[in-house]
Amino acid sequence: MRLKDPRLLTDYVKAHWYFYLLAVACIALANITQSYYPRVLGNFTDDLQKAGISPSVIKHYTLILLAIGIGYGVLGGFGQYMIMRMGRLFEFFTRKKLFEHFTTLGENYYSKNGVGKLLSYVMNDVKNVRDAISQGINHTTNSVIMIVSVIVMMLLSSIPLYLIVVCVLPMLAIPWTVIYFGPKIRERSKKVQESLATMTESAEEQFGGIRVTKKFAVESIMRGRFGETVDGIVENQVKLVRMSSLFQALLPFLGALSLIISIALGGYLTIQKQITLGNFVSLTLYLRMIVNPLQQIGNVINTMQRSRASLERINKLLAIAPEIQEAAHALPLEAKGAGIRISGLTFTYPDAREEALRDIDLYIPPGKTLGIIGKTGSGKTTLVKLLLRIYDPPAGTIKIGDTDIRDATLASLRNQIGYVPQDGFLFSTTIRDNIAFYDRQTEFAHVEKASKQAQIHDNIIEFPDKFETRLGERGITLSGGQRQRTSLARGFIKNAPVLILDDSVSAVDAVTETKIIENIRLGRKGKTTIIIAHRISALKHADEIIVLDEGTIVQRGTHAQLLAEDGLYASLYSIQEEGTRYAEGK
Ligand SMILES: Nc1ncnc2c1ncn2[C@@H]1O[C@H](COP(=O)(O)OP(=O)(O)O)[C@@H](O)[C@H]1O
Ligand SMILES: [Mg+2]
Repeated sequence: MRLKDPRLLTDYVKAHWYFYLLAVACIALANITQSYYPRVLGNFTDDLQKAGISPSVIKHYTLILLAIGIGYGVLGGFGQYMIMRMGRLFEFFTRKKLFEHFTTLGENYYSKNGVGKLLSYVMNDVKNVRDAISQGINHTTNSVIMIVSVIVMMLLSSIPLYLIVVCVLPMLAIPWTVIYFGPKIRERSKKVQESLATMTESAEEQFGGIRVTKKFAVESIMRGRFGETVDGIVENQVKLVRMSSLFQALLPFLGALSLIISIALGGYLTIQKQITLGNFVSLTLYLRMIVNPLQQIGNVINTMQRSRASLERINKLLAIAPEIQEAAHALPLEAKGAGIRISGLTFTYPDAREEALRDIDLYIPPGKTLGIIGKTGSGKTTLVKLLLRIYDPPAGTIKIGDTDIRDATLASLRNQIGYVPQDGFLFSTTIRDNIAFYDRQTEFAHVEKASKQAQIHDNIIEFPDKFETRLGERGITLSGGQRQRTSLARGFIKNAPVLILDDSVSAVDAVTETKIIENIRLGRKGKTTIIIAHRISALKHADEIIVLDEGTIVQRGTHAQLLAEDGLYASLYSIQEEGTRYAEGK
């Protein structure tokens, strides 16, 4: 696995920096506006004290406070909206990028990594990172600007500096408290969750085995064991409660400490006429205003810490370079009218010890049909995977026309080869969309025609919604043979220069199989077709048939030639014929 250098988040923010700047500017302005509010109330107090209450004073201050409220609401709201929006866009952008990336990763990667794990990356990790940037930018801007503007406002007021310092000092412990306790509380609550899970498991086990327990009279042992798990929960829960109570108490205490100092010292100074009553009022309001921002800074730091692991996982995933790489000089391939030449092909799977294919030499002239037969594990599917470059064949071993498939663009190669695997995957959507999978815009007439060729048309029109019938969880379930024929139709509709059927009629009955094969012969005249089958009846019409055994070609020729030889083919034939005769009661 090669690593490139992805910087998902930095790239994203860089590409959209002006949005973020605008959002940050709005939030900053909102907070600066808001920080005027204690000052206004302070002035109001002073005016009341000096001039007494009057309608004009009330009106004047009401209007100012209204303006501050609206300014804060509009600017802050807009800024926050922008940031949330950017966060959602990031989520969308990253998921898309991940999905695109997944489609480039080879089969080899998937066979080593579970799909569930990848899904969890896509869902949870991306969400974690999105939350962290949205909240991070939002709260950091909010808090920092609020704290800074409150402090500036305090310094600009006539409140003495030493009073400000003494009052603010205890509050500086707030972010540290959050950073210290946050992860610890999370850790403990995780432990509680885990021990609850253990208890559930243990309880299930007990109920499940209650008869056995009774029979062997081991109730006391079991009771003791269950008691231990319950004790474990209690212990963990008490620890959690202790920790979070301490935390819950400490934060308001620090805030209160500041307030107490401001009231005691500020009150004393007011009485001494060293500061005005208005100063005193605004000081206490200023202090209240920075408690939450200080706490939020702590929260942001914790969230960032947590999401860093997620971001690292995503970046690492994106850094995995696909194993199948397009050549730098890759050219589009033209498969129409081109023969397929395989020469000296020997292939071993990346982690396997034995060769899956050995010394394969083969030529399929344009427009001809090749049949491949052989036991399970003889290498039939491997040959197809190499043709499609799902795995890379050694250089020079597979050519279409004069082009080594390793020099062709992947899109042109895969677009020109229709491939119908044994158990083609059907999606939870309508039958029509499943058949027209490669191009949803395909005309209905084509879908219908393909379904007729695949002998599935008669089944489909009996379904409640015909071609619009949904498959999968929220729809109907098809039988094995119907599934195969639906994916066959998907292969036919592509009408590619090369069509490969990999055991695609194995679950279809003999009569239907014959009809399908006949349709292929008529419908694909002049186009190359490769038919892999277990049953000789499916490929006896082929221009050439090869018999694979343990990765090598052991026999080749037409049906008639192979029957005349004393070999695997003839013995398979006699077994299958006997089976048919037996089934038909002859
Ligand atoms: N992804 C893989 N990694 C390692 N070995 C594989 C892989 N796929 C198939 N094989 C092995 O390669 C051999 C040929 O398999 P395959 O081509 O699927 O056979 P067939 O299609 O004829 O049943 C088998 O021995 C199989 O175990
Ligand atoms: Mg196979």
